[in-house]
Amino acid sequence: MTGAGGGTDGARLRHALARRIRQTGPLTVAEYMQEALQHPRYGYYRCRDPFGRGGDFVTAPEISQMFGELLGLWAADWWARAGRPPGIALVELGPGRGTLMADALRAARVLPAFHQAVSVHLVESSPRLRDRQRAALAGAGVPLTWHDTVAELPVDRPLIVFANEFFDALPIRQFVRTDTGWAERVVALGADGETLAFGLSPVGTVAVAGLRGQDETALPAGSLVEACPAGTAIMDMLAARIAAAGGGALIIDYGHVGPAAGDTLQAVAGHRPVDPLARPGEADLTAHVDFTALGRVARDRGLRVQGPVEQGPFLSALGLQTRTERLKTRADAVQQRDIDAAAARLTDPRPTGMGCLFKVLAVTEAGGPAAAGMPA
Ligand SMILES: C[S@@+](CC[C@H](N)C(=O)[O-])C[C@H]1O[C@@H](n2cnc3c(N)ncnc32)[C@H](O)[C@@H]1O
Repeated sequence: MTGAGGGTDGARLRHALARRIRQTGPLTVAEYMQEALQHPRYGYYRCRDPFGRGGDFVTAPEISQMFGELLGLWAADWWARAGRPPGIALVELGPGRGTLMADALRAARVLPAFHQAVSVHLVESSPRLRDRQRAALAGAGVPLTWHDTVAELPVDRPLIVFANEFFDALPIRQFVRTDTGWAERVVALGADGETLAFGLSPVGTVAVAGLRGQDETALPAGSLVEACPAGTAIMDMLAARIAAAGGGALIIDYGHVGPAAGDTLQAVAGHRPVDPLARPGEADLTAHVDFTALGRVARDRGLRVQGPVEQGPFLSALGLQTRTERLKTRADAVQQRDIDAAAARLTDPRPTGMGCLFKVLAVTEAGGPAAAGMPA
Protein backbone atom coordinates (compact mmCIF):
# COMPACT_ATOMS: atom_id res chain seq x y z
CA MET A 1 0.00 0.00 0.00
CA THR A 2 1.41 3.40 -0.96
CA GLY A 3 0.83 6.36 1.32
CA ALA A 4 0.59 10.04 0.42
CA GLY A 5 3.97 11.68 -0.17
CA GLY A 6 5.69 8.56 -1.64
CA GLY A 7 7.17 5.46 -0.04
CA THR A 8 5.18 2.45 1.03
CA ASP A 9 3.47 2.14 4.40
CA GLY A 10 5.87 -0.74 5.10
CA ALA A 11 8.86 1.56 4.56
CA ARG A 12 7.30 4.26 6.76
CA LEU A 13 6.68 1.80 9.59
CA ARG A 14 10.20 0.38 9.20
CA HIS A 15 11.65 3.92 9.49
CA ALA A 16 9.50 4.64 12.56
CA LEU A 17 10.60 1.38 14.23
CA ALA A 18 14.29 2.06 13.39
CA ARG A 19 13.96 5.50 15.02
CA ARG A 20 12.38 3.96 18.11
CA ILE A 21 15.15 1.33 18.36
CA ARG A 22 17.82 4.07 18.11
CA GLN A 23 16.07 5.98 20.91
CA THR A 24 15.10 3.24 23.34
CA GLY A 25 16.85 0.03 22.26
CA PRO A 26 15.83 -3.24 20.59
CA LEU A 27 12.22 -4.47 20.57
CA THR A 28 11.14 -7.89 21.75
CA VAL A 29 9.67 -10.01 18.94
CA ALA A 30 6.28 -9.48 20.64
CA GLU A 31 6.66 -5.68 20.53
CA TYR A 32 7.66 -5.89 16.88
CA MET A 33 4.68 -8.14 15.99
CA GLN A 34 2.30 -5.85 17.85
CA GLU A 35 3.51 -2.81 15.88
CA ALA A 36 3.59 -4.64 12.54
CA LEU A 37 0.05 -6.02 12.97
CA GLN A 38 -1.73 -3.37 15.05
CA HIS A 39 0.03 0.00 14.53
CA PRO A 40 -2.91 2.44 14.43
CA ARG A 41 -1.88 3.87 11.05
CA TYR A 42 0.31 1.31 9.28
CA GLY A 43 -0.50 -1.97 11.07
CA TYR A 44 -1.32 -4.96 8.85
CA TYR A 45 -4.77 -5.57 10.33
CA ARG A 46 -5.56 -1.87 10.63
CA CYS A 47 -5.33 -0.88 7.00
CA ARG A 48 -6.02 -3.86 4.79
CA ASP A 49 -8.41 -6.72 4.01
CA PRO A 50 -5.91 -9.56 3.64
CA PHE A 51 -8.30 -12.37 2.69
CA GLY A 52 -8.90 -14.26 -0.54
CA ARG A 53 -7.19 -14.73 -3.88
CA GLY A 54 -6.20 -11.08 -4.26
CA GLY A 55 -5.03 -10.92 -0.62
CA ASP A 56 -2.36 -12.71 1.36
CA PHE A 57 -4.05 -15.88 2.66
CA VAL A 58 -7.27 -17.90 2.62
CA THR A 59 -8.93 -19.13 5.82
CA ALA A 60 -11.26 -22.11 6.29
CA PRO A 61 -14.55 -20.14 6.34
CA GLU A 62 -13.50 -18.45 3.09
CA ILE A 63 -12.86 -21.86 1.49
CA SER A 64 -16.35 -23.22 2.16
CA GLN A 65 -19.62 -22.19 3.79
CA MET A 66 -19.69 -25.69 5.32
CA PHE A 67 -17.01 -24.74 7.86
CA GLY A 68 -19.11 -22.00 9.53
CA GLU A 69 -22.29 -24.04 9.13
CA LEU A 70 -20.83 -27.00 11.03
CA LEU A 71 -19.62 -24.68 13.81
CA GLY A 72 -23.08 -23.10 14.03
CA LEU A 73 -24.64 -26.55 14.40
CA TRP A 74 -21.97 -27.45 16.98
CA ALA A 75 -22.98 -24.40 19.04
CA ALA A 76 -26.73 -25.08 18.75
CA ASP A 77 -26.18 -28.72 19.72
CA TRP A 78 -24.14 -27.78 22.80
CA TRP A 79 -26.75 -25.20 23.84
CA ALA A 80 -29.60 -27.74 23.51
CA ARG A 81 -27.72 -30.35 25.57
CA ALA A 82 -26.84 -27.68 28.19
CA GLY A 83 -30.55 -27.26 28.99
CA ARG A 84 -31.34 -24.41 26.55
CA PRO A 85 -30.27 -21.41 28.67
CA PRO A 86 -32.60 -18.49 27.74
CA GLY A 87 -29.83 -16.05 26.80
CA ILE A 88 -26.53 -17.00 25.21
CA ALA A 89 -23.68 -14.86 23.88
CA LEU A 90 -22.29 -16.28 20.64
CA VAL A 91 -18.80 -14.81 20.50
CA GLU A 92 -16.19 -14.74 17.77
CA LEU A 93 -12.61 -13.61 18.34
CA GLY A 94 -11.08 -12.05 15.20
CA PRO A 95 -14.05 -12.59 12.83
CA GLY A 96 -12.22 -11.48 9.65
CA ARG A 97 -14.83 -10.86 6.96
CA GLY A 98 -17.69 -12.12 9.16
CA THR A 99 -18.16 -15.18 6.93
CA LEU A 100 -17.90 -17.83 9.65
CA MET A 101 -20.50 -16.13 11.86
CA ALA A 102 -22.91 -15.48 8.96
CA ASP A 103 -22.73 -19.16 7.92
CA ALA A 104 -23.02 -20.35 11.53
CA LEU A 105 -26.15 -18.27 12.20
CA ARG A 106 -27.80 -19.35 8.96
CA ALA A 107 -27.23 -23.04 9.76
CA ALA A 108 -28.37 -22.61 13.37
CA ARG A 109 -31.80 -21.50 12.19
CA VAL A 110 -32.71 -25.21 12.14
CA LEU A 111 -33.10 -24.72 15.90
CA PRO A 112 -35.25 -21.54 16.04
CA ALA A 113 -35.17 -21.38 19.86
CA PHE A 114 -31.36 -21.19 19.74
CA HIS A 115 -31.48 -18.39 17.18
CA GLN A 116 -33.90 -16.48 19.41
CA ALA A 117 -31.69 -16.91 22.50
CA VAL A 118 -28.54 -15.64 20.79
CA SER A 119 -26.83 -12.26 20.91
CA VAL A 120 -23.66 -12.03 18.83
CA HIS A 121 -20.45 -10.48 20.19
CA LEU A 122 -17.48 -9.83 17.92
CA VAL A 123 -14.02 -9.05 19.30
CA GLU A 124 -12.22 -7.23 16.50
CA SER A 125 -9.35 -4.72 16.48
CA SER A 126 -9.62 -3.61 12.85
CA PRO A 127 -12.12 -0.83 12.02
CA ARG A 128 -11.95 -1.83 8.38
CA LEU A 129 -12.79 -5.47 9.06
CA ARG A 130 -15.59 -4.39 11.43
CA ASP A 131 -17.22 -2.73 8.41
CA ARG A 132 -16.90 -5.98 6.44
CA GLN A 133 -18.44 -7.92 9.34
CA ARG A 134 -21.32 -5.43 9.66
CA ALA A 135 -22.13 -5.92 5.96
CA ALA A 136 -21.84 -9.74 6.15
CA LEU A 137 -24.16 -9.90 9.18
CA ALA A 138 -26.67 -7.23 8.11
CA GLY A 139 -29.53 -9.72 7.65
CA ALA A 140 -28.64 -12.04 10.53
CA GLY A 141 -31.68 -11.08 12.62
CA VAL A 142 -29.83 -11.16 15.97
CA PRO A 143 -28.38 -8.34 18.12
CA LEU A 144 -24.75 -7.60 17.17
CA THR A 145 -22.13 -5.92 19.39
CA TRP A 146 -18.45 -5.25 18.67
CA HIS A 147 -15.78 -5.23 21.38
CA ASP A 148 -12.12 -4.22 21.50
CA THR A 149 -11.17 -6.94 23.98
CA VAL A 150 -12.42 -10.11 25.66
CA ALA A 151 -12.70 -8.13 28.92
CA GLU A 152 -15.75 -6.33 27.46
CA LEU A 153 -17.79 -9.51 26.84
CA PRO A 154 -21.08 -9.85 28.79
CA VAL A 155 -20.86 -11.39 32.26
CA ASP A 156 -24.55 -12.20 32.77
CA ARG A 157 -25.00 -15.19 30.42
CA PRO A 158 -23.13 -18.23 29.10
CA LEU A 159 -20.67 -17.71 26.24
CA ILE A 160 -20.10 -19.92 23.22
CA VAL A 161 -16.86 -18.75 21.66
CA PHE A 162 -15.30 -19.41 18.25
CA ALA A 163 -11.70 -18.46 17.53
CA ASN A 164 -10.45 -19.48 14.09
CA GLU A 165 -6.95 -18.25 13.22
CA PHE A 166 -7.10 -15.68 16.03
CA PHE A 167 -4.49 -16.95 18.51
CA ASP A 168 -1.84 -17.33 15.79
CA ALA A 169 -2.01 -13.58 15.18
CA LEU A 170 -1.09 -12.69 18.77
CA PRO A 171 2.46 -11.51 19.58
CA ILE A 172 4.98 -14.11 20.74
CA ARG A 173 8.30 -13.85 22.57
CA GLN A 174 11.24 -16.04 21.55
CA PHE A 175 14.11 -17.29 23.73
CA VAL A 176 17.37 -18.90 22.65
CA ARG A 177 19.52 -21.12 24.83
CA THR A 178 23.12 -19.94 24.29
CA ASP A 179 26.35 -21.44 25.67
CA THR A 180 26.18 -18.93 28.53
CA GLY A 181 22.46 -19.13 29.38
CA TRP A 182 19.12 -17.89 28.01
CA ALA A 183 18.78 -14.85 25.74
CA GLU A 184 15.69 -13.22 24.28
CA ARG A 185 15.50 -12.84 20.51
CA VAL A 186 15.03 -9.14 19.76
CA VAL A 187 14.61 -6.88 16.74
CA ALA A 188 17.57 -4.52 16.52
CA LEU A 189 19.32 -2.55 13.76
CA GLY A 190 21.71 -4.01 11.18
CA ALA A 191 25.19 -2.60 10.41
CA ASP A 192 23.72 0.19 8.23
CA GLY A 193 21.78 1.57 11.22
CA GLU A 194 18.48 1.44 9.32
CA THR A 195 17.69 -2.18 8.32
CA LEU A 196 15.91 -4.28 10.95
CA ALA A 197 17.83 -7.37 12.07
CA PHE A 198 17.41 -10.07 14.70
CA GLY A 199 19.69 -9.97 17.73
CA LEU A 200 19.94 -11.51 21.20
CA SER A 201 19.59 -9.92 24.60
CA PRO A 202 20.52 -11.87 27.80
CA VAL A 203 17.60 -12.83 30.01
CA GLY A 204 17.24 -14.81 33.26
CA THR A 205 16.40 -18.52 33.26
CA VAL A 206 13.63 -17.90 35.78
CA ALA A 207 11.94 -15.40 33.43
CA VAL A 208 11.88 -17.96 30.60
CA ALA A 209 10.52 -20.73 32.84
CA GLY A 210 7.89 -18.34 34.23
CA LEU A 211 6.65 -17.32 30.79
CA ARG A 212 6.66 -20.87 29.46
CA GLY A 213 5.08 -22.40 32.56
CA GLN A 214 7.73 -25.13 32.73
CA ASP A 215 11.39 -25.70 33.60
CA GLU A 216 13.59 -25.23 30.53
CA THR A 217 17.03 -25.74 32.09
CA ALA A 218 17.60 -29.16 30.45
CA LEU A 219 17.33 -27.86 26.86
CA PRO A 220 20.61 -27.96 24.89
CA ALA A 221 22.45 -24.87 23.59
CA GLY A 222 20.95 -23.63 20.33
CA SER A 223 17.35 -24.45 21.35
CA LEU A 224 14.72 -21.82 20.57
CA VAL A 225 11.47 -21.72 22.53
CA GLU A 226 8.44 -19.46 22.23
CA ALA A 227 5.85 -18.06 24.62
CA CYS A 228 2.65 -16.17 23.85
CA PRO A 229 1.76 -14.19 27.00
CA ALA A 230 -1.07 -12.39 25.17
CA GLY A 231 -2.62 -15.73 24.15
CA THR A 232 -2.50 -17.23 27.62
CA ALA A 233 -3.85 -14.00 29.15
CA ILE A 234 -6.82 -13.96 26.75
CA MET A 235 -7.44 -17.68 27.32
CA ASP A 236 -7.33 -17.12 31.07
CA MET A 237 -9.89 -14.28 30.85
CA LEU A 238 -12.21 -16.40 28.68
CA ALA A 239 -11.83 -19.43 30.92
CA ALA A 240 -12.66 -17.34 34.01
CA ARG A 241 -15.84 -16.07 32.29
CA ILE A 242 -16.88 -19.57 31.22
CA ALA A 243 -16.20 -20.93 34.71
CA ALA A 244 -18.39 -18.19 36.24
CA ALA A 245 -21.29 -17.95 33.74
CA GLY A 246 -21.10 -21.21 31.76
CA GLY A 247 -20.53 -22.05 28.11
CA GLY A 248 -17.53 -23.16 26.11
CA ALA A 249 -15.02 -22.27 23.41
CA LEU A 250 -13.66 -23.83 20.23
CA ILE A 251 -10.12 -22.75 19.40
CA ILE A 252 -9.06 -23.65 15.85
CA ASP A 253 -5.59 -22.81 14.63
CA TYR A 254 -2.40 -24.21 13.24
CA GLY A 255 -0.11 -25.17 16.03
CA HIS A 256 1.63 -27.81 18.05
CA VAL A 257 0.97 -30.04 21.01
CA GLY A 258 3.69 -30.52 23.60
CA PRO A 259 7.23 -29.12 23.39
CA ALA A 260 7.78 -26.09 21.15
CA ALA A 261 8.67 -26.72 17.54
CA GLY A 262 11.51 -24.13 17.38
CA ASP A 263 11.15 -20.88 15.45
CA THR A 264 7.58 -20.73 14.08
CA LEU A 265 7.41 -16.99 13.34
CA GLN A 266 6.43 -16.56 9.72
CA ALA A 267 5.49 -13.75 7.38
CA VAL A 268 3.24 -14.18 4.35
CA ALA A 269 2.40 -11.66 1.63
CA GLY A 270 0.56 -12.49 -1.58
CA HIS A 271 0.32 -16.17 -0.51
CA ARG A 272 4.17 -16.45 -0.34
CA PRO A 273 6.58 -16.57 2.60
CA VAL A 274 8.60 -13.36 2.96
CA ASP A 275 11.28 -12.02 5.36
CA PRO A 276 9.40 -11.15 8.61
CA LEU A 277 11.46 -7.98 9.10
CA ALA A 278 11.49 -6.64 5.53
CA ARG A 279 8.00 -5.13 5.24
CA PRO A 280 6.37 -4.58 8.63
CA GLY A 281 2.67 -3.84 8.15
CA GLU A 282 2.64 -5.24 4.61
CA ALA A 283 2.92 -8.94 5.45
CA ASP A 284 0.88 -11.12 7.79
CA LEU A 285 2.91 -12.29 10.79
CA THR A 286 1.89 -15.43 12.64
CA ALA A 287 3.29 -18.09 14.95
CA HIS A 288 2.19 -21.62 15.82
CA VAL A 289 -0.28 -21.81 18.69
CA ASP A 290 0.88 -23.76 21.76
CA PHE A 291 -2.27 -25.78 22.49
CA THR A 292 -0.69 -27.37 25.54
CA ALA A 293 -0.30 -23.92 27.14
CA LEU A 294 -3.89 -22.89 26.29
CA GLY A 295 -5.29 -26.18 27.63
CA ARG A 296 -3.30 -25.81 30.86
CA VAL A 297 -4.73 -22.32 31.48
CA ALA A 298 -8.31 -23.56 30.95
CA ARG A 299 -7.76 -26.61 33.17
CA ASP A 300 -6.35 -24.35 35.91
CA ARG A 301 -9.71 -22.51 35.85
CA GLY A 302 -11.52 -25.81 36.36
CA LEU A 303 -12.84 -26.23 32.80
CA ARG A 304 -13.20 -29.47 30.88
CA VAL A 305 -10.57 -29.61 28.12
CA GLN A 306 -10.99 -31.85 25.05
CA GLY A 307 -8.35 -32.17 22.34
CA PRO A 308 -6.60 -30.79 20.53
CA VAL A 309 -7.60 -32.97 17.60
CA GLU A 310 -6.77 -32.44 13.96
CA GLN A 311 -9.25 -30.33 12.00
CA GLY A 312 -9.96 -33.09 9.41
CA PRO A 313 -11.28 -35.72 11.86
CA PHE A 314 -13.13 -32.99 13.81
CA LEU A 315 -15.05 -31.77 10.74
CA SER A 316 -15.72 -35.35 9.65
CA ALA A 317 -17.12 -36.19 13.10
CA LEU A 318 -19.44 -33.17 12.81
CA GLY A 319 -20.80 -34.50 9.50
CA LEU A 320 -18.80 -32.71 6.79
CA GLN A 321 -19.29 -35.55 4.31
CA THR A 322 -23.09 -35.63 4.81
CA ARG A 323 -23.25 -31.86 4.47
CA THR A 324 -21.13 -32.03 1.30
CA GLU A 325 -23.56 -34.48 -0.31
CA ARG A 326 -26.57 -32.40 0.76
CA LEU A 327 -25.07 -29.21 -0.73
CA LYS A 328 -24.25 -31.01 -3.98
CA THR A 329 -27.90 -31.98 -4.55
CA ARG A 330 -28.62 -28.30 -5.28
CA ALA A 331 -25.50 -27.70 -7.41
CA ASP A 332 -24.55 -28.03 -11.09
CA ALA A 333 -21.57 -30.16 -12.20
CA VAL A 334 -18.98 -27.37 -11.84
CA GLN A 335 -20.28 -26.37 -8.42
CA GLN A 336 -20.27 -30.03 -7.32
CA ARG A 337 -16.58 -30.27 -8.22
CA ASP A 338 -15.88 -27.06 -6.24
CA ILE A 339 -17.78 -28.36 -3.20
CA ASP A 340 -15.81 -31.64 -3.25
CA ALA A 341 -12.52 -29.76 -3.68
CA ALA A 342 -13.31 -27.46 -0.74
CA ALA A 343 -14.20 -30.38 1.54
CA ALA A 344 -10.99 -32.18 0.51
CA ARG A 345 -8.92 -29.06 1.23
CA LEU A 346 -10.42 -28.54 4.70
CA THR A 347 -9.70 -32.16 5.64
CA ASP A 348 -6.43 -32.71 3.69
CA PRO A 349 -4.59 -35.22 5.95
CA ARG A 350 -1.08 -34.57 4.57
CA PRO A 351 1.35 -33.05 7.10
CA THR A 352 1.09 -29.63 5.42
CA GLY A 353 -2.64 -29.99 4.66
CA MET A 354 -5.27 -28.02 6.58
CA GLY A 355 -6.89 -31.17 7.96
CA CYS A 356 -3.68 -32.07 9.78
CA LEU A 357 -1.84 -28.80 10.38
CA PHE A 358 -4.89 -27.15 11.96
CA LYS A 359 -5.96 -28.38 15.38
CA VAL A 360 -9.16 -27.93 17.40
CA LEU A 361 -9.26 -27.45 21.16
CA ALA A 362 -12.59 -27.43 23.03
CA VAL A 363 -12.95 -26.02 26.54
CA THR A 364 -16.33 -26.17 28.27
CA GLU A 365 -17.82 -25.54 31.69
CA ALA A 366 -17.17 -28.32 34.21
CA GLY A 367 -20.22 -30.53 34.62
CA GLY A 368 -21.81 -29.29 31.37
CA PRO A 369 -22.17 -31.38 28.22
CA ALA A 370 -19.02 -32.52 26.43
CA ALA A 371 -18.17 -30.87 23.10
CA ALA A 372 -19.34 -32.78 20.01
CA GLY A 373 -16.74 -33.96 17.51
CA MET A 374 -14.01 -34.37 20.14
CA PRO A 375 -12.66 -37.36 22.04
CA ALA A 376 -14.15 -37.45 25.55
C1 LIG B 1 -6.18 -14.39 10.34
S1 LIG B 1 -7.56 -13.40 10.62
C2 LIG B 1 -8.80 -14.66 10.87
C3 LIG B 1 -10.17 -14.20 10.48
C4 LIG B 1 -11.32 -15.20 10.60
N1 LIG B 1 -11.40 -15.78 11.92
C5 LIG B 1 -11.27 -16.27 9.55
O1 LIG B 1 -11.10 -17.42 9.90
O2 LIG B 1 -11.41 -15.93 8.37
C6 LIG B 1 -7.32 -12.71 12.22
C7 LIG B 1 -8.47 -11.85 12.71
O3 LIG B 1 -8.19 -11.45 14.07
C8 LIG B 1 -8.26 -10.03 14.18
N2 LIG B 1 -7.29 -9.68 15.22
C9 LIG B 1 -5.95 -9.90 15.20
N3 LIG B 1 -5.39 -9.53 16.38
C10 LIG B 1 -6.41 -9.09 17.16
C11 LIG B 1 -6.49 -8.60 18.49
N4 LIG B 1 -5.40 -8.48 19.24
N5 LIG B 1 -7.69 -8.24 18.99
C12 LIG B 1 -8.81 -8.37 18.23
N6 LIG B 1 -8.80 -8.84 16.96
C13 LIG B 1 -7.62 -9.19 16.42
C14 LIG B 1 -7.93 -9.55 12.78
O4 LIG B 1 -8.30 -8.23 12.53
C15 LIG B 1 -8.71 -10.57 11.95
O5 LIG B 1 -10.09 -10.29 11.94
